[in-house]
Amino acid sequence: FFAGVGSKPLAGRRALVTSGPTREPIDAVRFIANHSSGKQGHAIAAALSHLGAETVLVTGPVNLPDPPGLSVVHIESAREMLDACQQALPADVAVFAAAVADWRVKDAAASKIKKGKGAPATLELTENPDILKTIATATGNRRPALVVGFAAETDDIVKNATEKRARKGCDWLLANDVSPASGTFGGDANTLHLVRDGGVEDWPRMSKTAAADKLAGCVADYFKDHPAREAEAAS
Ligand code: CTP
Repeated sequence: FFAGVGSKPLAGRRALVTSGPTREPIDAVRFIANHSSGKQGHAIAAALSHLGAETVLVTGPVNLPDPPGLSVVHIESAREMLDACQQALPADVAVFAAAVADWRVKDAAASKIKKGKGAPATLELTENPDILKTIATATGNRRPALVVGFAAETDDIVKNATEKRARKGCDWLLANDVSPASGTFGGDANTLHLVRDGGVEDWPRMSKTAAADKLAGCVADYFKDHPAREAEAAS
């Protein structure tokens, strides 16, 4: 009778999670990408699903299996990621863990660029849409009740993250210490700081799966005090 209690506190909630890198084509066979493993984003999607949320995971190319029990959408470019996210809405909670390329090649070639035949000395880049910002600043039921972003920082972590949270319009921001000493990239552990209205919570270094469970627990706590989407619509 009481949906949302017990071991499935997120039952009846919809979650959207982005994960992994994006690939931005240069031509038919080449692309720009980054080293994101998708481990953190995939673990978050699995953790939210485990707590009962109906979860859509939008992911760039990673060497990870699709987590069972949730809907996985595979994309390559940032623009495809944005489209897939828009299609997954409405959602109660959205977590943007993907390492989206900030830039793409302005006019990607449809066929392979041959060397010596007009191969470009420079690539002209253009800015990609900011998926987190687009969805965090959307209106009506296109704006999830709880929007969580990530910030990869090496210095002044909490100060930069606090500013980034305001700039992006998200509710919570998880600042990720990616200084070379942290071994975060591609590694199995993360040192995170959760920035939200009430202040900053410094989490001890922990595995990416433990961090995902901890975040999912915070999300469940948040929704304890917030009516379900249906209830909101009915009231
Ligand atoms: N993000 C996004 N779409 C983009 C770029 C980033 O959704 N085009 C999201 C990421 O998923 C992450 C957050 O925004 O949640 C990171 O913001 P970004 O401005 O890229 O910050 P950093 O990667 O931390 O880099 P920088 O400090 O250079 O701004």
